[in-house]
Amino acid sequence: MYEFSISSGSKAELYRDLFAALDALTADEPDPIANMANAAALIWEYLPALNWAGFYRLVEGELVLGPFQGKVACVRIALGRGVCGTAASTLQTQLVSDVHAFPGHIPCDSASASELVVPIVRDGRLIAVLDLDSPQLARFDVDDAAGCESLGRLLAFRI
Ligand code: SME
Repeated sequence: MYEFSISSGSKAELYRDLFAALDALTADEPDPIANMANAAALIWEYLPALNWAGFYRLVEGELVLGPFQGKVACVRIALGRGVCGTAASTLQTQLVSDVHAFPGHIPCDSASASELVVPIVRDGRLIAVLDLDSPQLARFDVDDAAGCESLGRLLAFRI
């Protein structure tokens, strides 16, 4: 059994502790799917107010559903489409406070109201995106984006 000490204090402390837990969980495991699966479970357990947390992997030029927690989701997303495809094609984090105002948003779970998608990049090349959905409008802020980007930089060498 894994025991983590995850702070419920400030967001900075929460992401610092999540980073340490994810580092410990993935350090000795070379399998990318296993590491994405545990990352999704860790984020799902400790980040509040999520209805989906997981990965889309870049496979032969399109995004393909990877390990996640939440409701079943669309399997393939073209680069440039939706929030995930936009993060993938621009290599820029997408912080979307109202998904219904995002042109081309792909609804997977009708409960989703806001979304954060972080590209995971190694040596300048996209590997996957980390996608978080929330049923709350404007659930994610720049601190969440920075925290998830730091998780993404770690995962870039673990998946
Ligand atoms: N909403 C995403 C699709 C993936 S689901 O949220 C899990 C998008 O627009 O890319």
